[in-house]
Amino acid sequence: MEKLIAKVLITEEELKKKVVELGEEITNDYRGQELLIIGILKGAVPFLADLIREIKIPLRYDFMAVSSYGASTKSSGAVRILKDLDTSVEDRHVLILEDIVDTGLTLKYLKENLARRQPLSLKIVTLLDKPGRREAEVQPDYYGFVIPNEFVVGYGLDFNEIYRNLPYVGVLKPEAYQKQE
Ligand code: IMP
Ligand code: MG
Repeated sequence: MEKLIAKVLITEEELKKKVVELGEEITNDYRGQELLIIGILKGAVPFLADLIREIKIPLRYDFMAVSSYGASTKSSGAVRILKDLDTSVEDRHVLILEDIVDTGLTLKYLKENLARRQPLSLKIVTLLDKPGRREAEVQPDYYGFVIPNEFVVGYGLDFNEIYRNLPYVGVLKPEAYQKQE
């Protein structure tokens, strides 16, 4: 699997350091309050698991699954809810947690959808921000790293559902797009 990685963009150490910093920032901003973190399946799982342990205030977390991409590296533009929340967001401080904001179409849809459910506040945290590909007007409140217009995998991010378990964020070699392992 790792033979198909052309280069490491963000190392495991850099990820750990950034997650600690984001945890401190979020802890300070929400001090005295309770938080509901909504992780967007499946890419957000490793980031969520690491970040929640660096946030030192009471919190709940829940998941939504949306589909905007097929088995390809290009966005179809269409957003569909595959799994909705088990929890009510009404009167809660809600933080949407994403792996990456690319075109922004997914988050624009999610933000509008959740805003209609009357949360006390609604913010976005994303590990990666790819502003060069933005199509929808959406700005993350917290982000880990701004990255260039390259398709990345690892730390939750996949190509054809593979590579999510890499402990770093990397770029695939062209031949990886022909393979499945
Ligand atoms: P957006 O709606 O275009 O912002 O896309 C958001 C979703 O697309 C993310 O949650 C990812 O699942 C996927 N995505 C976008 N860019 C990448 C990438 O570089 N690698 C892997 N998945 C990506
Ligand atoms: Mg995803």
